[in-house]
Amino acid sequence: GESGCGNGSGAASPHVVLVPLPVQGHLNPFSSLAHCLAASGISVTLVRAARANAIVSEIQGSAASSPLPHILARPIRVEVVPDGMTSDPKQPLNPNKVRESIEIIGKGVDGLLEKLMREKDAPCCLIIDHLIGWGHDIALKYGLPWMMLWMGSASAFSVGFHVPELVSRGYIPAVGEGAKDRMIDFVPGLSPFSVRDVPKPVRIEEDTKANPFFQFFMSIYYKAKYADRILFDSVYDLESSVAEALREEAGFSVCHVGPLFMMSSQTSKSSARTVNLLQEDDSCLSWLDKQQESSVLYISFGSVVTLEYDVISELASGLEASGLHFLWVIRPDALSGKASVEELLPEGFIDRTHSRGCVISWAPQLAVLAHPSIGAFLTHCGWNSVLESLSHGVPMLGFPQQAEQNTNLKFIVHDWKVGLPLLQPNMQRIELTYVQDAMTVIMKKDEGKEVRRNALHFKKVILNACNGSSKSNLEKLVQDFISGNL
Ligand code: UDX
Repeated sequence: GESGCGNGSGAASPHVVLVPLPVQGHLNPFSSLAHCLAASGISVTLVRAARANAIVSEIQGSAASSPLPHILARPIRVEVVPDGMTSDPKQPLNPNKVRESIEIIGKGVDGLLEKLMREKDAPCCLIIDHLIGWGHDIALKYGLPWMMLWMGSASAFSVGFHVPELVSRGYIPAVGEGAKDRMIDFVPGLSPFSVRDVPKPVRIEEDTKANPFFQFFMSIYYKAKYADRILFDSVYDLESSVAEALREEAGFSVCHVGPLFMMSSQTSKSSARTVNLLQEDDSCLSWLDKQQESSVLYISFGSVVTLEYDVISELASGLEASGLHFLWVIRPDALSGKASVEELLPEGFIDRTHSRGCVISWAPQLAVLAHPSIGAFLTHCGWNSVLESLSHGVPMLGFPQQAEQNTNLKFIVHDWKVGLPLLQPNMQRIELTYVQDAMTVIMKKDEGKEVRRNALHFKKVILNACNGSSKSNLEKLVQDFISGNL
């Protein structure tokens, strides 16, 4: 090719293609990474699935394709590919269709690369979402190096990566009494953890070969071995021992470049979200202005989790009994089949808590977490939320639901000590009294104060990394694109 990662083309800047899955928790870090690279003079093509593109365009208008172009050394080129999903933003994403959609997006990216490879400024590297399994195949087809962007911690990655060993040693399937409480203390770089802390989709109780989800999730870790580099949206200083162990023990080329939302706001002087699949309700910020310092519990379960009616009801009752001030995000699709937030919540809840509560359908989360009125975050422990909370020094009350959220909670509670669990590990069902207690403890009691102090310490650690390890890792990445050292 004419241009590319340092193959003698002189003036041409390296061209990198980024492929995220069209879910909020992946679009955010990818869009931040695109900004970081473009601000450093890399040509970036950001692939956007049709459904996400339709929604983003509707929310932001036609300027959606390349936000904040004036601060970038190069504009980001957005290429829309089909995803087989309905583009009606009012229809919630069908989780059962996601795997099929990943394949359809793959065909679109294949077609796109065929076109881009013929251009003068042909791509020299792909950066692919960790949940996409075809990264290696497509990179081979076009003779390109590829990197995996892992939108989680290296710690949780390492737990998942070692699952085959847990299977061969008989920890998984986790059958029989006490099976989930068995401790695992032999993974290099990690403190001991229990079977309960292994990511939920692979911590199964039946034959591993018969479970397609187990196979799917394990294939992600397997594919990671073929990536030329794994970029973690995480901070080296949070988990240096596991990063080193992954490098030495498993031979991974590990590169911590997070928190990407902070790295990109450094270059763009703005932490504005550029891709929102739901309209942010900014009115909560003026409501927060009227609250006292550290007095508000922020509650949000990310973009995917849906809760059972009983769970929402116990949360609401616990919250009401606690007397705390709160900001609660309830997405329109938080419980399928229900039309309005009022119908989701116990009757009269909004009226009764009117003077101290604010319920909205989507928050400007970064601005919320940065607000001095926020005292703690009741979160499902999705990695973006964890990183955003920690970066703002906000302690967490963890209520994990799916994916590797339970694993994240382990590190939050036991390693970093920046949060507490909402429920005790062996608790079968959620109950008002536990909810009320846990909320009160994190907001008002000594244990809460201790995790807040630790969270403030990690806020500093992360801030330092933004001018230290993550910054130099990103600079080296850019340098490697320019010199072709992939
Ligand atoms: C999740 C998992 O974390 C991810 O690993 C998985 O692969 C896909 O789903 P999600 O459940 O949405 O993502 O949670 P999280 O990782 O916390 O990401 C949510 C993002 O949405 C965060 O960046 C958060 O700031 C943003 N958000 C959330 C808002 O902007 N407003 C809100 O009201 C809630």
